[in-house]
Amino acid sequence: MKALVLSGGAGTRLRPITHTSAKQLLPVANKPVLFYGLESIAAAGITEVGMIVGDTAAEIEAAVGDGSAFGLKVTYLPQERPLGLAHAVLIARDFLGDDDFVMYLGDNFVVGGISALVEEFRTRRPDAQILLTHVSDPRSFGVAELDASGRVVGLEEKPRHPKSDLALVGVYLFGPAVHEAVRAVQPSWRGELEITDAIQHLIDTRADVRCTLVEGYWKDTGDVGDMLEVNRTVLESLERRIDGEVDERSETVGRVVIEEGARILNSRIVGPAVIGSGTVVRDSYVGPFTSVAENCRITGSELEFSIVLRDSSIDGVGRIESSLIGRHVEVTPTARVPSAHRLVLGDHSKVQIRP
Ligand code: DAU
Repeated sequence: MKALVLSGGAGTRLRPITHTSAKQLLPVANKPVLFYGLESIAAAGITEVGMIVGDTAAEIEAAVGDGSAFGLKVTYLPQERPLGLAHAVLIARDFLGDDDFVMYLGDNFVVGGISALVEEFRTRRPDAQILLTHVSDPRSFGVAELDASGRVVGLEEKPRHPKSDLALVGVYLFGPAVHEAVRAVQPSWRGELEITDAIQHLIDTRADVRCTLVEGYWKDTGDVGDMLEVNRTVLESLERRIDGEVDERSETVGRVVIEEGARILNSRIVGPAVIGSGTVVRDSYVGPFTSVAENCRITGSELEFSIVLRDSSIDGVGRIESSLIGRHVEVTPTARVPSAHRLVLGDHSKVQIRP
């Protein structure tokens, strides 16, 4: 069995962090979301990975390399434009041969991995196995319709009027029959060759398409609350590790990771929390469910249930909660008089301030 991991795409449609060019590298608990996918592929006993890359190929290749750090052998498959998920399968034909494969969208996160699913697929060998999950707004997903016995009867890509709240998760298991199906589909209204349509083609031609309901699924839909939640879930399984410097006036409580090269000075860190290398936390409090990435500076502030991406600084601003702070961001106090907020915010930013 092989894996086809999709890390292409144009680097647009990026929310909430517009400056993150490859969305598959958006960090969850200070680790790119793509790495969790690669780890779960390796854990399922798969070693050969085809990696679809597009405009952000250099960034993805710099992060993943030849895959050996994950115990994988990665072959890069350049896609000239993001022409759709089914197009990715088309161009991977030579790499895949007639082997079964798991197709994994690099910006998706499945809590608990995929080992059980891969095992189930290997035992039953259907033509396709899809993963479904309940979501509150299915309109930005592929949506499945099931019959009374729980079989998939219809799939629709981003429907305006969804027939259910069951969204297609971006992890699919396929046998070789999918190759004929991806050749049969036509571009959708958004100009893409949809894998959703290819699976519908399999259903229409009476192939064996099965579905599994999963819980604990995340992808970046631009909802900061969702991102904080997935960060919280991952941090909950953190193991305490102090590799950086913690001075004698500081305290670290519970499951805290202080990476090598980080410095905690006159501060209190209450886990689960992770502080990236090169980051300095001084005269501050960092509370539970917080990830601070590399090379940040937190001074005279309190931070809880938040994510701070790399190279940012938070300086003397009191308490920050439930926040997502991008890269190279500076948060500083304002002069007391006149009482006004001064903001420089990127695209799609959301701020909540006391009126
Ligand atoms: O995430 C689950 C959803 O993924 C499913 O519910 C939908 O049915 C499915 O179509 C897909 O929808 P998205 O619109 O969210 O997919 P997106 O265009 O964001 O692409 C998903 C990943 O695949 C992303 O990491 C970029 C990569 N990609 C995408 C396209 C269109 C490629 O590598 N090549 C492509 O041509």
